[in-house]
Amino acid sequence: MSSIKGFILTASVLLVLVSVCLSAPPYITSDKLEMRDDLIEGDIVPNPESKNGIRGDRYRWANRTVPYQLDSNFNSSEVEKILLGWAEIENTTCIDLRERQSQDSDYIFIEKGRAESGCFSSVGRVGGRQVINFEPPCINRHGTIVHEMLHAIGFYHEQSRPDRDDYVTVVWEKIEPGKEHNFNKYTEEQVDTMGTPYDYGSVLHYSGFGFSIDGSATIVPKDPNAEIGQRIRISDIDAYKVNVMYNCTSFL
Ligand SMILES: *[C@@H]1O[C@H](CO)[C@@H](O)[C@H](O)[C@H]1NC(C)=O
Ligand SMILES: *[C@@H]1O[C@H](CO)[C@@H](O)[C@H](O)[C@H]1NC(C)=O
Ligand SMILES: *[C@@H]1O[C@H](CO)[C@@H](O)[C@H](O)[C@H]1NC(C)=O
Ligand SMILES: *[C@@H]1O[C@H](CO)[C@@H](O)[C@H](O)[C@H]1NC(C)=O
Repeated sequence: MSSIKGFILTASVLLVLVSVCLSAPPYITSDKLEMRDDLIEGDIVPNPESKNGIRGDRYRWANRTVPYQLDSNFNSSEVEKILLGWAEIENTTCIDLRERQSQDSDYIFIEKGRAESGCFSSVGRVGGRQVINFEPPCINRHGTIVHEMLHAIGFYHEQSRPDRDDYVTVVWEKIEPGKEHNFNKYTEEQVDTMGTPYDYGSVLHYSGFGFSIDGSATIVPKDPNAEIGQRIRISDIDAYKVNVMYNCTSFL
């Protein structure tokens, strides 16, 4: 734990809910935990200007440091799993996640949510106290812990990139009526893809079956060999984007 200096969560304005399945398959096929009805894209807390890498210095964490405070209701094994998620981000990026000190006014409170409250975060630093919520099953999927953290650092879902329609087909007629907003895409003015190729392997990409009326696919990769929805680890491109966002030249 000493090697983990802090925990990052950048919360900007959107909370992103990530769903997690208890028995946590590495590729998610159903995203109930990340698919709360009242949040944007299922796991993002609404932000008026939401949006891949959120644009705007005001959403960045000072000094590449994200102070966090863990809910005292987490038990020791839950804390250990959360810290492993943080460690992966610290290992692959210049972001420092550390426990909140009294002088930190901007920080993330990592809340142990009640059953069925979902897994969600804001996008980027919001200012003051912001929440990442983990209902207990969220903790059992490593990639979901990383996913929520990346939202808080400043990133939207991969499939909301402006160029997504060149890489995936959204099957609108299979999406539950009223849930279409979860498949929004953002403009170049709202998000920055940092010159990266579309990343099917992003830990921030939806699975193919979210918000489906009948269990059939709602997102189909145009590349027949691509797999989407992995929740195993931060992808190389995910880490690269964090390092570009925070000007971490020594990591690039
Ligand atoms: C960032 O670093 C500056 C200079 O060391 C310090 O004054 C400031 O308190 C730091 N801010 C945070 C949020 O750690
Ligand atoms: C972080 O990197 C170290 C050194 O390469 C490695 O031993 C450790 O398993 C990594 N931890 C995580 C959580 O990725
Ligand atoms: C911690 O809580 C989880 C439920 O979230 C439970 O499955 C686990 O057994 C608990 N571990 C300890 C060490 O109490
Ligand atoms: C990164 O560098 C750019 C250009 O110098 C600057 O505008 C921006 O504020 C920096 N961002 C961070 C998070 O340091």
